[in-house]
Amino acid sequence: MNGGYEDGYRSCACFWGTEPGRLVKQVATLLGDVQRLDVLDAGCGEGKNTAFLAKRGARVRAFDISTTAIEHARMFLGDPANASLEVADVRKCELPESNYDIVIAYGLLHCLASQAEVTVVLERLKLATKAGGLNVICSFNDRQQDLSAHPGFIPVLLEHSQYTSFYSDWQLLYQSDEDLTEVHPHNGIRHTHSMTRLIAKRCTITT
Ligand SMILES: C[S@@+](CC[C@H](N)C(=O)[O-])C[C@H]1O[C@@H](n2cnc3c(N)ncnc32)[C@H](O)[C@@H]1O
Repeated sequence: MNGGYEDGYRSCACFWGTEPGRLVKQVATLLGDVQRLDVLDAGCGEGKNTAFLAKRGARVRAFDISTTAIEHARMFLGDPANASLEVADVRKCELPESNYDIVIAYGLLHCLASQAEVTVVLERLKLATKAGGLNVICSFNDRQQDLSAHPGFIPVLLEHSQYTSFYSDWQLLYQSDEDLTEVHPHNGIRHTHSMTRLIAKRCTITT
């Protein structure tokens, strides 16, 4: 239901660690100052990216479909005035148009059920972004996936070029297709994913 991460969340208090994602640090460096920027962290997990940006003064709305992940995020973040945490489904929740300076989907899109869902969700996230705002996307792609550490999980795998094509009407500030080798704390299996990472800027209001 949530990409096979529920067992991991139930096995330890902090599955993803507290260090923010590389692209999120990159965006903070790029912008220099994120104070009072409105951020959406969709599929926030335990909140590592939310915590990083909220500590720097951004106003973050973070949500995840997993109740366990949100419970962990609440323990990790405490109750900062400038971050809200909720259990919500990115396919259904209300996303106001042109509302966010930064929209983050870190590891979210490959958890969806189909390419069609990825398309719909990406359009929703793009529409929720202010003109001049950024989307920060990190997702498995179809180049090579070792899923031995994720039994039963069937991710949606798009080509890297499909992700960049989704943003052909935006300015691509960064894009890469690289391998990520990792070990999750609940099973200790070393494995490698090919990952699309991109930062895109909405230049004008699109229809
Ligand atoms: C790979 S994890 C990444 C978590 C976090 N963004 C991070 O980088 O640490 C993907 C997250 O997306 C969440 N997720 C999957 N499907 C979702 C959906 N339809 N709506 C909201 N969250 C979802 C999962 O529960 C999981 O926490």
